[in-house]
Amino acid sequence: MIGVYDSGLGGVSVLRAIHALLPQHDLHYLADTAYFPYGPLSAATVCERALECVGALIAHGAALAVVACNTASSAALEPLRAHYAIPIVGVEPGIKPAVAVTRTRRIGVLATGGTLQGERFSRLVQRYANDVQVQTVPAPALVEQVEAGQLATPDTHALLHEYLDPLIAAGVDTVVLGCTHFHFLSDTIRQILGESITLIDTSLPVARRTADLAQQIARGTGRVQFFTTGDPAQISVALGYMWAGATVQPLEDMPRVRC
Ligand code: DGL
Repeated sequence: MIGVYDSGLGGVSVLRAIHALLPQHDLHYLADTAYFPYGPLSAATVCERALECVGALIAHGAALAVVACNTASSAALEPLRAHYAIPIVGVEPGIKPAVAVTRTRRIGVLATGGTLQGERFSRLVQRYANDVQVQTVPAPALVEQVEAGQLATPDTHALLHEYLDPLIAAGVDTVVLGCTHFHFLSDTIRQILGESITLIDTSLPVARRTADLAQQIARGTGRVQFFTTGDPAQISVALGYMWAGATVQPLEDMPRVRC
């Protein structure tokens, strides 16, 4: 079984890409809704949650885990890999692919404050975007809109304009979706940005990396199950927009692990 985890429902975007590539693998998706959103939490708290959530997926039988959350990957990928023996795939904002396609040498990055302030993000920018202007936009309100299933409401549209208009005005030609929640806003984001701006979403490359590693683990029957650390009723409607017919169960057996 492959375990996929996020603070909430954003990682369902990655789950969908993984399921499309690996339809015969069993997947468990865990939303750490009790601690959502991760963006404003300290890196230490996010790290602890990540260790516990991945521990819970391993206790369910995960032989491979995907941290489908930029914020948790930023705070916890190294400790997770040091703590657990199974392969762990993380996500990070697609700075490298953005730098490869930008012509104006100006890129925008939409992410959580936690991701943008993390050391991992600075290292990424230093490594790949030295000669490129990187305009970062913390967008916590968009995370909340997606989690609430407000994918195409007038409020979400107005917020998107608030976040994206300054990027358009600054002359960026490439925008990185540095938070897995934002995949669900791609259509509206594309509409606002127009044809000439490229959108970078990393769910497919992350799914491809997962598929490579999944060659080492047993296939199943393609069953996909959803769990939450919070109240299932809180996310079931929004989850239904993202995965038709999905039902979500409460997670009963959370291990205690310290970061
Ligand atoms: N989906 C998340 C990410 O990719 C986290 C959003 C949040 O919990 O603040 O960063």
